Order: sequence, then structure tokens, then C-alpha cells
Amino acid sequence: MTAHPQPPPLLSLVGVTKSFGTVHALQGVSLDVCAGEVHALCGENGAGKSTLVKAVAGVHRPDAGHIEVAGTPVYFSAPADAQRAGVAVIHQEPTLFPDLSVAENIFMGRQPLARGRRIDRAAMHAECDRLFARLSVRIAPDRPARGLSIADQQLVEIAKALSFDARVLVMDEPTAALSGTEVDRLFAIARSLRDRGTAVVFISHRFDEVFALCDRITVMRDGRHISTDPVSDLSMDAVVRRMVGRDVDTLFPKEDTEKGRTVLEVEVLTRAGVFSDVGFRVRVGEIVALAGLVGAGRSEVVRALFGVDRYDSGTVRIAGSLLPPGRPAAAMAAGVALVPEDRRNQGLVMELSTGRNATLTRRWALSRFGLLRRRAEEQAARFWIERLQVKAGSLTEPVATLSGGNQQKVVLAKWLATEPRVLIVDEPTRGIDVGTKAEVHRLLSRLAGQGIAVVMVSSELPEVLGMADRVLVMSEGRITAELSREEATEESVMHAATTRAMEVSG
Ligand SMILES: Nc1ncnc2c1ncn2[C@@H]1O[C@H](COP(=O)(O)OP(=O)(O)OP(=O)(O)O)[C@@H](O)[C@H]1O
Ligand SMILES: [Mg+2]
Repeated sequence: MTAHPQPPPLLSLVGVTKSFGTVHALQGVSLDVCAGEVHALCGENGAGKSTLVKAVAGVHRPDAGHIEVAGTPVYFSAPADAQRAGVAVIHQEPTLFPDLSVAENIFMGRQPLARGRRIDRAAMHAECDRLFARLSVRIAPDRPARGLSIADQQLVEIAKALSFDARVLVMDEPTAALSGTEVDRLFAIARSLRDRGTAVVFISHRFDEVFALCDRITVMRDGRHISTDPVSDLSMDAVVRRMVGRDVDTLFPKEDTEKGRTVLEVEVLTRAGVFSDVGFRVRVGEIVALAGLVGAGRSEVVRALFGVDRYDSGTVRIAGSLLPPGRPAAAMAAGVALVPEDRRNQGLVMELSTGRNATLTRRWALSRFGLLRRRAEEQAARFWIERLQVKAGSLTEPVATLSGGNQQKVVLAKWLATEPRVLIVDEPTRGIDVGTKAEVHRLLSRLAGQGIAVVMVSSELPEVLGMADRVLVMSEGRITAELSREEATEESVMHAATTRAMEVSG
């Protein structure tokens, strides 16, 4: 124990318990978050972090126990109650209303009023501009939220949290979709809020961030509070061990595989203003990483080659045959699978069960004489769900009831069940906990060994360096470097990722 007098806790949980049917998401959790600290919550997918956040946000009411703000018990029956008490929350999944403007989302329910009680749009937009300036971003206040990138949606949520001077700021995986500079900016804001006496709660599966930003770390496991310590008393290994309850390898290096013939061949693929002259080949048994900063055009390229987005010129060939542009069904029939980046919107049907979601793409293969072979479907789902350690009470519950990381795993399961020969994964381990991350890496490596060509878009350098046989680095819509496994280092990748694309193309 340190002898320093602790500042008073601004947020306390006292024996908070919350169950969903038979799932005990929180079991008597007690926790203090003090003024002037950034407090990390760590735990595996499904440990109860987001449930805790939702209890604090007034989304869930605890079954037992209570919450205190600045020493006073509070009972929130709706999110607005939490806001009024000075608790701002950025949820794991953006909660913007797509049809409302950015400004309307930020000032929902508390718009500045002009004379005659009309909403003062000018004041609202000016305030938005001020908030975005503080975040050093440019988002038009009057544009609809629909169509914003995940990163921008997150930034709007952050602006919203900043807009009411919160005493407690809770951020549930705010950095998952942000680029390096955006993360730096967010950290600068979190630190300045902390220095002004705000209590900040920060959730992330990236330990480098947790250790760089946070003052204390609380570990949760299976809905229980395990420990709270100053960051200086902890090593990353110690945190992992407490999260998982045993030792785990945090990274799984790729096994060497026999490389076969070329299966995927992309030539001078161009979409005006988005990416240009993108060409590469991937062979059987190979893992090729598309590295680069968020916004470099990597997701756009893989979406275009799979056919969900259009392109203006260029060709895509699978095993020598041309793939018709703009037709995902043709890509699937040719054996291509794409695990998208925005899994919530592009990967899952929230109201359907976990089992259904895991096998949605496989239905055509599983139906015989037009009848769905339900048993086969369930078997395929169960196989991958076990393999990926998806934590689900039952496969028949809606997938919406899974934790964020477990939803990600279901999308992965669904595409693996199609037995593709070209597997494209966009940020395969985003939001996935440390233990399962190694499992996903092991799986990708094994799939490559079994003769699948893998294209991996990843912003995590250790993942790129550990897994890729070859690294293609993109910057501003162009490939700025192609690096062999030996050539690829943190420096060489970062250098190419920050190279102006025009300097390379001449
Ligand atoms: N609305 C709900 N209905 C049923 N079960 C739920 C609901 N919300 C959460 N759960 C369950 O509660 C448990 C804890 O989930 P929670 O979302 O809090 O995990 P988490 O720690 O945030 O995980 P992740 O790192 O994946 O985001 C999980 O088993 C989850 O399936
Ligand atoms: Mg969560």
C-alpha cells in the first residue's frame, strides 16, 4: 500500500451485481475511481466490462448493490439521469442516430434554444466547431451521422462527452477504430481532463495503451473484481495472468509453410480519389499483410476486390479466372471470404441467434433439395464457436446479447465456415482479448498451412510483423512498399506508411 493520501473517489461501485437470465455478468463488484486518475478496466471478452459501464451509464439497473457519485448514492433509471449526475460515457458500439445531424446527435435533448424556444442552430454549430477544434478534427456539424467512418463516429461520441462538463468520463474501447495520431489526441484530452480533476475510466484490449495512459489497473474475470493496483506495481504479464487465470502466449508467430501457386492476382486496381494502381499477388500458403495508417485505403481495396464496393479500372483474378466487379456472390462462389472491419454493421444480423449468424453464409452449401439441413448448420456453428472460444450462454439467444469481442468472433466463425481458398480479414483481432488473439493467429497460420491464401489488413504492428510472409504498406491510396518477412521491421513499415504516396509514384 502507498502512503499517499488518496483523493476522494468520484465514482464508486458498491457490491454491484447484474445477471441476464443465467449469465452472471457482474457479481458483487466494488470499485473506486478517484478524481484525477485514469483507471483502466482489463478483462477477457465477456468479463463484464461493458456491463459495468452500462450500469454506471444508467442503461442497466443493478440487481443488487449501488453506485455512488462523489460519495452520494445515485439510482439511475435512464441514461439522462447519469448525464445529469455528471457521468459521460462513450460506449463500445457507437450509439449515434444515423438520420440526425452530427450536431443534433451531440446536443440530443439539450439543444441551445433561441428566442421563441426554437433550437438555436447557429449556436449549436458554433459549439460543435469549438468541440471539434479541441479534438483537432474537422467534421461538418450539419452532415448526417449516417456514412461517418467508425473513427469519426467515435470522435463525435467523444465530442458529445466533452460537451457536458463531466466529472466522470467512461470510455469503453474508444481507440479500437482510431489511427495512431487520433489515439495520441484522445490521450492528450484524457490527460488534460484528468489533470483538471476528472475521474476517467478507460477500457482497451491494447496493453501498450493501458500502460501508457493509466494510473491504476483493475482486472475483472467472469464478472468478478480480481484486483486493483497502481500501474507501476504491475507488469503486462501479471495483468494477463490475472485476466486469464493462467499463463498465456500473447503472440503466436506464423509457422513456415510451403508456398504454392498464385491464387489471388490484383492488377492496377484504381478507384478515383480512393486508391490507385494497386497490384499484388498472393500464393497458396501465404499470409500477406496490408499495413498502413487508418485511412490509407486498405479496407477500401479489399472491399472493392471482394465486390462490395465498385472500382473504376483494373482486374482481380482468382486462380487465373477474372472476377466480375461489384458481385460479392461471384467472389464467394470463387472461394473468397471477407471478414469486414465494421463487423457490427456489415457482419451480423443482431436480432438473429448466434448459431444462425455463424452459419448465414454457409446456408447454400448446407441445403439439400432446397431444404435447410439444420443439424449440419448447428454442427458447423458449434465447431467454429468452440474453436474461437466464443463465450455464449446459448447459441439460440440473439447475437446482440454477446459481449463486443465475442460478436467479433462470431463473424470470424461465419466466414471460416465457408472454407474459403482466399481469406481476407480486416483487422482480425480488433476488440479480441489477449488470449484469443493468440488463438486467432494460430488459426490463420494453420489455415495458411492447409493451403489457403490469407490477406490480412491490420493496424497492429506486432501482428503484422509476427504473422505476415510479406508486408504491403499503403499510404494515401497507393502501395508505397513491399517488404519481405526479413525486411519488415517497425521502422521500415512505419517509414513506408508515412511516405507521401506521390513521392513513390513519381
Ligand atoms: N443484454 C444482454 N443479455 C444477455 N446477456 C448479456 C447482455 N449483455 C451482456 N451479456 C452477457 O454478459 C457477459 C458480460 O458481457 P460484457 O459485454 O460486459 O463483456 P465485456 O467484458 O465488455 O467483453 P468485451 O471485451 O468482449 O467487450 C457476457 O457473457 C455477455 O454475453
Ligand atoms: Mg465490452
